[in-house]
Amino acid sequence: MKKFLLFIAAFVLFFSEVHANNHFPITRDNKEAIALGQKLYNQNCVACHQPNLVGQTNWKTKLDADGHRLAPPLNGTGHAWHHSDAMLHDVIKYGYANMIKNYKGKMMGFAKVLSDTDIDHVLAYMKSFWPEDVYQHQIKLSKHGH
Ligand code: HEC
Repeated sequence: MKKFLLFIAAFVLFFSEVHANNHFPITRDNKEAIALGQKLYNQNCVACHQPNLVGQTNWKTKLDADGHRLAPPLNGTGHAWHHSDAMLHDVIKYGYANMIKNYKGKMMGFAKVLSDTDIDHVLAYMKSFWPEDVYQHQIKLSKHGH
């Protein structure tokens, strides 16, 4: 538990030093963006986050063979939607690997593979799965930065 709190604290610290980007919030209004996002998701994320973004089985309670956390769902049932677009964008771009000191886990950054626009498309694809209330809540959150 202590470790987990440290993890969160490091995360918040990192985040507060990084900008709020102003092309947020990302919506799910653009079908083309969603289709591009789906393609990029299938190329880069599906192995861990699974088809339909359901996450790995028992992600809440189990660890993988290396003792690392399993990939959570991104479909609106996990925690992802509690984060603003700016934060999610950073997680995907930099990975926890570059946001948290001594991070031990599997969420690496995609800065070398995905452009900022690509990441926005992936976010649009993720949001296309979210229930309406979750979606609206997160849009509001993203307008305020965090
Ligand atoms: C090698 C496996 C792996 C790949 C590939 C991967 N992820 Fe992850 N991802 C994880 C794990 C594991 C976590 C949880 C990190 C932790 O707690 O250490 C995570 C966390 C996240 C989070 C934070 C979720 C939350 O609930 O706060 C987002 C967003 C995310 N990943 C998006 C993506 C996207 C988008 C891609 C593809 C571009 C991707 N991930 C590729 C394993 C992966």
